[in-house]
Amino acid sequence: MIDSRLISIETRLSAIRFEVDAGGRLWQLGYGAKDEAADGRQVAYPAGGNGWVFEPAIQAIHADGNTSTDLRVIDVTELENEFRIDLRDPEYPFCVSLNFRTYPDQDVIESWTEIWHEESGVVTLGAFASFAPAFGKSDHWLTQFHGDWADEVHMAEEKLGYGIKILDSKLMVRAQQFRSPYFLLSRGAEASEDEGEVFGGALSWSGSFQFLFEKLPSGDLRANLGMNPYGSAYRLKPNHRFTTPKMVMGWSGQGKGHLSRNFHTWARHNALRDGDRPREILLNNWEATYFDFDEAKVLDLMEKGKDLGMEMFLLDDGWFGQKYPRDGDDQGLGDWIPDVAKLPNGISPLCERAQELGLRFGIWMEPEMVSPRSELFEGHPDWAIQQPKRELEVQRNQLVLDLLRPEVREYIFDLIDRTLSANPGISYVKWDCNRYVTQPGSTYLSSEEQSHLSIDYTRALYEVLEKVAERHPQVELMMCAGGGGRVDYGSLKYAHEFWPSDMTDPARRVFIQWGYSHFFPAISMGCHVTDMGKRSLKFAFDVAMSGRLGMDVDVSKLNDEELSFSRMAVEAYKDIREVVQLGTQYRLESPYAGPRSGVLYSYDCSVVVFIFSLGEASGDQRVQLKGLQADTRYRIEELLPAGLGVSLETLGSELMADGLDVGPMAAYTSRVFKLEKQ
Ligand code: DGJ
Repeated sequence: MIDSRLISIETRLSAIRFEVDAGGRLWQLGYGAKDEAADGRQVAYPAGGNGWVFEPAIQAIHADGNTSTDLRVIDVTELENEFRIDLRDPEYPFCVSLNFRTYPDQDVIESWTEIWHEESGVVTLGAFASFAPAFGKSDHWLTQFHGDWADEVHMAEEKLGYGIKILDSKLMVRAQQFRSPYFLLSRGAEASEDEGEVFGGALSWSGSFQFLFEKLPSGDLRANLGMNPYGSAYRLKPNHRFTTPKMVMGWSGQGKGHLSRNFHTWARHNALRDGDRPREILLNNWEATYFDFDEAKVLDLMEKGKDLGMEMFLLDDGWFGQKYPRDGDDQGLGDWIPDVAKLPNGISPLCERAQELGLRFGIWMEPEMVSPRSELFEGHPDWAIQQPKRELEVQRNQLVLDLLRPEVREYIFDLIDRTLSANPGISYVKWDCNRYVTQPGSTYLSSEEQSHLSIDYTRALYEVLEKVAERHPQVELMMCAGGGGRVDYGSLKYAHEFWPSDMTDPARRVFIQWGYSHFFPAISMGCHVTDMGKRSLKFAFDVAMSGRLGMDVDVSKLNDEELSFSRMAVEAYKDIREVVQLGTQYRLESPYAGPRSGVLYSYDCSVVVFIFSLGEASGDQRVQLKGLQADTRYRIEELLPAGLGVSLETLGSELMADGLDVGPMAAYTSRVFKLEKQ
């Protein structure tokens, strides 16, 4: 045991403080502004069964059946940006380490837990939070991001009252279909864009998660944040280490906007692959053709795409299957061999033609899945996740492969490796995943360890993704799970971007992109122009141009006017690409607040402002800008103007105080302005 002491884990503006008392117990003293006194003193990382009667951060059944744990600090390691607090049960060789890594400039603290023991047998873990912060006695408002397929990340805010509020997923795979693993928590008032204290939390984990908030009878709010313990009791053998995923926590004293900007910078440098390399504009054939294409159609799309200025072509679902050709979503998953009826010469001629055209080539895969109607399933019915004695439940006519089986991991890696090695022209993979788990049983795990499936599945997935990234470092990855079912910092570690939603109607996309923008930078969001919603091409382009632009349209069906507008829009995007993808984002007007929405990006000497109208014209025709230099003059020019583009010079201070006049805007129209510092 060590002497009593204070531990202060600090970023530039925030701090979380702990105290070790004379008995070696660990207390949390506060979390928030660095220069403010601690609001309350709470048991840190409370363990169940020995006095703590609220939700425990950790719960263990020891080898001898004792259901209580008592943790005392035995060591503290403080390095420059790394902190580790080692705890041990005085009566059992059972140890817990609380780890923290700080990112001072972004006020981000990553936290994770390691658990191991040297008891005489297995210890069963029933709770294992990555981070268990206490937030003090103030009033708190919680914002969650919920939704469904093609309807992701609705933001819903509520004041937390006494008792427990849980945000979770139990879906294991495509785990975020109904809720995302991030939240905002504001203190003292509802979260505002530019003022007030707000925390942001995001779990780097693609599996089931649980954020549990409990307002104690004392009025203190505390939380257990991490993997979902539901159905996941973990039998930990002696001398094995159980490491939780990382909880990424940000803090801002200047509202949500500042918090998000910090997350964007943090993510671009620490979470996303190649976060400082601008992304290319791609043409995808999903909404253009669905499953109905052949070699000639793909070649035609590539050629027409090139003519529009596209830089990459992405071949989506439907290119594979021999005995069970993938002509619809009812068969073929698992049989990753080109369908000779559609592509008699395989993928190579497509890659070669792309290369000749100067386009990059990408391909869609859904490696974790198998169709019951597939040669793979016929050969290996036990490879699918299933519950004995229960009828197999399909979703989108498919089952999830049991990645805990080494031979399944090997199969998946081989399939990707073979496809990429045989076609060196492929430099992009869209990794899809179109169902969640409803029958979590494994034919591989012993009956005692069935409850390991959920956690070990995600670990196994990461093992495969890691191997793929190591073997093919130059290949970019898009994370997709039937849209935004897997948008988290855990999977983005292996990816360059994600597919936010199968909802591509720009009118709804404005909300979806707004929601994701709270944690993810524009460079990570694939945003495609499609026909959905039958909006104007300008509106569709403008919305897509506020992220990583792409098109998902049968370009052969565009008329001359549409073609020339598209060409112009693609050209315009190339001009502003760095500003959007590498710039600093300011959210100007929320689509939730009313008929208009706006977002601004600023990079070096350039600024780009996107204004979207989603309803009847609002009375106020001015939009206040943010993030400009007050005493600098900006030359303003409209991109893709509907009428005459303005071109004038205005002081930053005026644009921020009085606003930019965007005129009356009809529903589902948009304007984009480029500002250059003079
Ligand atoms: C779901 C994805 O979100 C779509 O973009 C598309 O790739 C389909 N799957 C293909 O099945």
